[in-house]
Amino acid sequence: LAIDNSCIVIFGASGDLTQRMLMPALYKLFTQQKLPTAFVILGVSRSTYSDQAFRDKLINNIPASAVINKQLLADFCQRIFYQSIDTANVNDYAILKDRISKLNDTFKLENNALFYMATPPSLYSVIAQHLAAHHLNNEQKGWKRLVVEKPFGYDLDSAITLDKALYQHFQEQQIYRIDHYLGKETVQNMLVLRFANSIFEPLWNGKYIDYIEVTGAEALGVEKRGGYYDGSGAMRDMLQNHLLQVIAMVAMEPPSVINADSMRDEVVKVLQCLKPLSEHDLKHNLVLGQYTESKVRGEDLSAYRAEAGVPDDSRTETYVGLKMFINNWRWNGVPFYIRTGKRMPTRVTEVVIHFKKTPHPVFSAHAPENKLIIRIQPDEGIVLGFGLKQPGSGFESQEVAMDFHYSDLKKTELLTAYERLLLDLIKGDATLFSRSDAVRACWNFVQPILDYKKRSFSLYGYASGTWGPVEAEHLLIKDGHKWRSPCKN
Ligand code: BG6
Repeated sequence: LAIDNSCIVIFGASGDLTQRMLMPALYKLFTQQKLPTAFVILGVSRSTYSDQAFRDKLINNIPASAVINKQLLADFCQRIFYQSIDTANVNDYAILKDRISKLNDTFKLENNALFYMATPPSLYSVIAQHLAAHHLNNEQKGWKRLVVEKPFGYDLDSAITLDKALYQHFQEQQIYRIDHYLGKETVQNMLVLRFANSIFEPLWNGKYIDYIEVTGAEALGVEKRGGYYDGSGAMRDMLQNHLLQVIAMVAMEPPSVINADSMRDEVVKVLQCLKPLSEHDLKHNLVLGQYTESKVRGEDLSAYRAEAGVPDDSRTETYVGLKMFINNWRWNGVPFYIRTGKRMPTRVTEVVIHFKKTPHPVFSAHAPENKLIIRIQPDEGIVLGFGLKQPGSGFESQEVAMDFHYSDLKKTELLTAYERLLLDLIKGDATLFSRSDAVRACWNFVQPILDYKKRSFSLYGYASGTWGPVEAEHLLIKDGHKWRSPCKN
């Protein structure tokens, strides 16, 4: 796909996402000469900045280590502009249109424009509507793409309402919903591992797989985002989107080709097979927790309820543990145990595939497990655990590992998720963006949990720096398993 000349318009330009993620990613792509020959970045928000003041603000956020040479940074800055408007005021979009048009003429941007909404979600439909009022959605001359950041709605109904609002002005193929987990190299690698090798796929089903663990753990708390997080919780913040997408990559059927349609057709098919949670599941296969204060390695960590922006009687979950199933031929009866939480002992995202034992224990009843650990972050890589004979007399076996670390591919510098996804946006490759039907399937699955949280539900405390409430241990213990301790392979 071509990297077309284009105008990258970022709404919410003075905000955290733009400054911390988008601009550094665009700069990195620029230094690698991956951006189009002609491009400009137009920051848009309410605050007043001159172009130069906006550039200066940005420079402060680019880590010194990323500045390859000052000239390159100066060249990048020459492509950056700023326009202050009141995003909620339709009349201001005339000013925006005029600015885009002038930049288009000066830099020969071929009327292509990417509208990135790095704003509060309440503005998504407003921006779409106001852009359309000034025909900035019109693709007659060049393409127009609308980028939506999560959350895509707050629950199933609001997700549908948001879609309807966007569809009034943009076609589905113009809308790119970003789930940055899909931009992660190792999430994509799951597809290559599964579908470019013939040795895994024959075993990749309930006949050979006993159970699957998915962990998305973070050591940090909610930091300065207490206000947002309290209305969201781990369920909406991590599970509904990132982790269900990871599960889709683990569980989907092979697409016949890798392109946006066939990939996303398979993703939605598997997400639509997530087994709806019953009343029994909500009570017995779901554990919600909230971190409490604790001292970790000499550091006092505050309770969630003491975080800025969080009410002191908050019942928002910062941890979710869940046992779930996928109702289809391949996965019938295979439990997927998912956990995600803030203030865990370490930051790690991984998938562990636990294979069944041999049909008959020839050597010992305690034969080592066969497991495949797919480490999404940090130390991206894959480890295969299996048993071999312990040297010496007898036939005792012990677990050994074959491992691959991405860092072994010395020449490869991994693109960060945002770098990869921004590049795909400019190319118009929607393969790694969530399609509306998949988003709905995810909401459909978590909706019973959201409804359950409106009733009386158990919320368990866990000390900061631990692996969540003890109740979550029981989710696996009662099935004869144990969460893997990700600190060791
Ligand atoms: C974001 C959530 O979408 O993902 C954050 O809002 C979370 O709360 C983050 O910390 C995790 O992303 P990553 O890439 O650090 O695993």
